[in-house]
Amino acid sequence: MKNINVGILGIGNVARGTYQTLELNRSKIEQATGASIQITKILNRRPELDRGVNIPKEIYVTDVNEILDDSSIDIVVELIGGIEPATEYMARALKAGKHVVTANKAAIAANGKMLQALAQENNVLLRFEGSVGGGIPIINAITTSLLSNEFDEILGILNGTTNYILTKMSDEGKDYAEVLADAQKKGLAEADPTADVEGIDAANKLSILMSLIFGVDIPPQEIPTQGISKLSSYDINYATEFGYRVKLLASAKKQDGSVSCNVQPTLVPFSHPIAAVSNEFNAIYITGNVADDLMFYGRGAGPLPTGSAVMGDIIGIARLIEKESAYDMQPLLRYDAPLRCAGEGSNQYYIRVTVPDRPGVLGSISSTFGKYSVGIKSMVQRAEGDGENSHVPLIFIVYQTERSVLDQALRELLDNAFVDSVDSVMRVQR
Ligand code: HSE
Repeated sequence: MKNINVGILGIGNVARGTYQTLELNRSKIEQATGASIQITKILNRRPELDRGVNIPKEIYVTDVNEILDDSSIDIVVELIGGIEPATEYMARALKAGKHVVTANKAAIAANGKMLQALAQENNVLLRFEGSVGGGIPIINAITTSLLSNEFDEILGILNGTTNYILTKMSDEGKDYAEVLADAQKKGLAEADPTADVEGIDAANKLSILMSLIFGVDIPPQEIPTQGISKLSSYDINYATEFGYRVKLLASAKKQDGSVSCNVQPTLVPFSHPIAAVSNEFNAIYITGNVADDLMFYGRGAGPLPTGSAVMGDIIGIARLIEKESAYDMQPLLRYDAPLRCAGEGSNQYYIRVTVPDRPGVLGSISSTFGKYSVGIKSMVQRAEGDGENSHVPLIFIVYQTERSVLDQALRELLDNAFVDSVDSVMRVQR
């Protein structure tokens, strides 16, 4: 039985989960691989810290060169996170003829094209199953079993932290800040939650999925992205009354030669399977033109679920090394369609405005909407007082319209003082 040597860069949650996955299921893994997988070095810049796992101290190294320059290491597993220096380390490993496995969505979204080209030039493999959806094997499914399909649409709950926060806001009626503080206390949200709550993490993952599924090169910064930090519990409650759950949805649609894409809080009808995805779970919903509707569901984060995905990539590579088979150099990321993100596209929208409670206001609003061909699907007014000087919320759901047209109509309503403020605009998924 051949030894396949692995060097891991990083000793965070996913690195520890990967180590534990191998220890827990070693005999099954060795049977599946036909080789003995040995984690021979782990980059741990602070070996004095207790990491709460049973990793022999002798395999810790504090200098990355001890892994990147070690000719006995076959596979480098990058689990540091962040774009740099992770990208530089992966590039060096690939140039040194080592296979690379990573769970780093930010680095793959930013530099996947360059890293994949380097892997091809050096006849080694770059694998990144853990970068999207944690333990959900979505990348493998898209790039193998589902290859015979064309897909028009991707819907994803791609961030566990925000899905947990939204679930608690919805089920317990609490405000965003209170739920976030609670999630941080429980270790379910990072001390600095910006990348999660502002939708950046989900945009990185959507960028990767769009390349795999549509073959487009749309970097995360070109995806219209809005997080949940400004979301009010009023909107979550009104959405529930209308029959929707609010989810931070990553959505991309290919139609008429363009791709619309966005990450934003979105109203999802109770009847849609993705509406039932709660707490820290992730889901990816795609419809193939032959396989039809598919939903992949599972834990999008966590040491062992992500460790499972990382280990799957390691096993796949180890099998090829063991059998001395030619590597499958077919690139996973595709960039063959020269399309840019054309914004949000045409959607139904939820709108909450505050208006002066006086006769004629509703008529003026509906005639302005009418002027822009924005059709009203439903509307509620919540008046608490009965005085003409009060200001009240009005909530609309409008039929399919372009976001830019809707924004024009809303601007006109503000300019003409028919509304005091536009408090919320959210896409409605059909
Ligand atoms: N921070 C991510 C989440 C997990 O909350 O889903 C890693 O991608």
